[in-house]
Amino acid sequence: MCGIIGYVGSKQATPILLKGLKALEYRGYDSSGLTVQSDRLVTVRAVGEVSELVERVQHVRTQGTAGIAHTRWATHGIPSVENAHPHADCAGGISVVHNGIIENHIELREELIARGHVFASETDSEVIAHLIEERLSDCRPLFAAVRESLARVRGTYGLVVISKEIPQTLIAARMGSPLVIGVGDGEYFIASDPSAIIEQTKDVIFLDDGELAAVTSEGVSLMSLDAQEIQKETQQLDWDIETATKEGNPHFMLKEILEQPQVIENSCRGRIDLIEGRAVLGGLKEVEDRLREIDRVVIVGCGSAYYAGLVGEYLIEDLAGIPVEVELGSEYRYRKPIITERTVVLAISQSGETADTLEAIREAKRKNALTLGIINTVGSSIARETDAGVYCHAGPEIGVASTKAFVSQLAVLSLVGVYLGQLRGSLSDRNAGATLAALYELPDQVQEILNDRNLVTQTAKKYSSIENCLYLGRSFHAPIAYEGALKLKEVSYVHAEGYSSGEMKHGPIALIDQGFPSIVLCPEDSVFEKNCSNMQELRARRGPLIGITTKGAQIDHLVDARIDIPKTIECLQPILSTIPLQLFAYEMAIARKLNPDKPRNLAKSVTVE
Ligand code: M6R
Repeated sequence: MCGIIGYVGSKQATPILLKGLKALEYRGYDSSGLTVQSDRLVTVRAVGEVSELVERVQHVRTQGTAGIAHTRWATHGIPSVENAHPHADCAGGISVVHNGIIENHIELREELIARGHVFASETDSEVIAHLIEERLSDCRPLFAAVRESLARVRGTYGLVVISKEIPQTLIAARMGSPLVIGVGDGEYFIASDPSAIIEQTKDVIFLDDGELAAVTSEGVSLMSLDAQEIQKETQQLDWDIETATKEGNPHFMLKEILEQPQVIENSCRGRIDLIEGRAVLGGLKEVEDRLREIDRVVIVGCGSAYYAGLVGEYLIEDLAGIPVEVELGSEYRYRKPIITERTVVLAISQSGETADTLEAIREAKRKNALTLGIINTVGSSIARETDAGVYCHAGPEIGVASTKAFVSQLAVLSLVGVYLGQLRGSLSDRNAGATLAALYELPDQVQEILNDRNLVTQTAKKYSSIENCLYLGRSFHAPIAYEGALKLKEVSYVHAEGYSSGEMKHGPIALIDQGFPSIVLCPEDSVFEKNCSNMQELRARRGPLIGITTKGAQIDHLVDARIDIPKTIECLQPILSTIPLQLFAYEMAIARKLNPDKPRNLAKSVTVE
């Protein structure tokens, strides 16, 4: 997500901060900013690349040996100078950079405004600055003021605070969003990611959740949120800059696959009310009345986003009982789509910039449909042009092959299904509660799959020389078969076909022989028996078989290899089944000595027709 760098020592802070921001650019950004402490706090912010900030800084006097800086990837509020970090309180006495999401920011903002605070941005982060300001004006020391403010906050944060009054001191705190302190010779660094400081020092202290640090040029004092002192050893990183950006992983694709438990948590954060058994989607509030009246949903997307849409079709029809059609963005404008004012056209896109999906939305708007977006990139074209929507909060996806964005789209679609079902009274409280509770469990189940990933690696090694592969799945899993085949094609250049299992006998079975393996998605669900019959048919043609199934399923007599995943409710099972397919594609690329981060001929975002 966003990136943080802080410095305190005897050198000029600005060049060090700008260098750190440059190193963090790989994470994606839409704006950046810094604050340096001199006789006052001097803040400079800019929209766009870090080079824009560098340009602006040249015209401002930013002398000082302590400072904080940030690259933003928007989550709350569009990319703009006002929304760029650092954020100040009303009095300009402190400045804050923050990564993460403050879930209760709306209620805190309302409270603070009622007490006379004036907000300058639309961000959730700014509430932190005002909360600290109040405590400082009650004469609390800075460290205590930060700690007490954080007790009011619900959500995730990695943050650094600098104050006008307390020279050469940075306060850092972490809850769910990483922070590392770099230890130099008479100087200290704070960063969200070691890549920002690795060229300055390899001696680091990692903060854990619930910890705060007061950092001066003399040293670091650590404390817990409940004011207990903490002692920690300095560790030595043996990473170079290249490894650091991937957080120790050899590729972004693997890093992004491994991040998925956190990604699902972020996509669902603040959106699952387990007590009331409700899906809470603030982004759809404004269009709630129209959503009660709709008679059809048309989902548009391209590539993986289109496949997510196909899962969405099953989910929304199942949970909300509304007819759904899914259309390729690239085909939509060549038809004469029948759209009425009671049609919702829902765009799914990681980048929010895919030209065909954007055009489909424009066409729908011309026909007065209600347009919605499930978009990962805040402030992107599709996000701006749709009437309302739900952001994925997957963080920037750098690997060209979509992994975490796809999974976040499925998580959000599940929430949308529950939300629409509840809004229209077509989903029972029991079903809604069970779906939300199962969704809440998913991050741990994904983690379980990732912990056992060695088996996927072994299987990929065994099959690394194949040139063809058939992916099969039925019902909720048909689109996952398409997505699995797409992943394999994209990163390992193995020819792969994704089919719904029922279609296998209508053609693709002609391909099968002992040199043409199939991967069958066959969790123990309502179509398990039917999938087993298909596997029998493939076996009878001597086709090698890999089964992706749930623990305990009786398929050993049918398959050459099996990869087990935990069981969840049927409509959420595709989220779990996707993970081994991503890992398989990744490991196949590695076994075939290919770089999965740079697949030939592909661009991350297709912004031309
Ligand atoms: O940014 P979008 O989600 O709109 O992108 C859509 C497709 O271009 C994208 O999913 C593409 O298919 C990926 N390479 C899939 O891994």
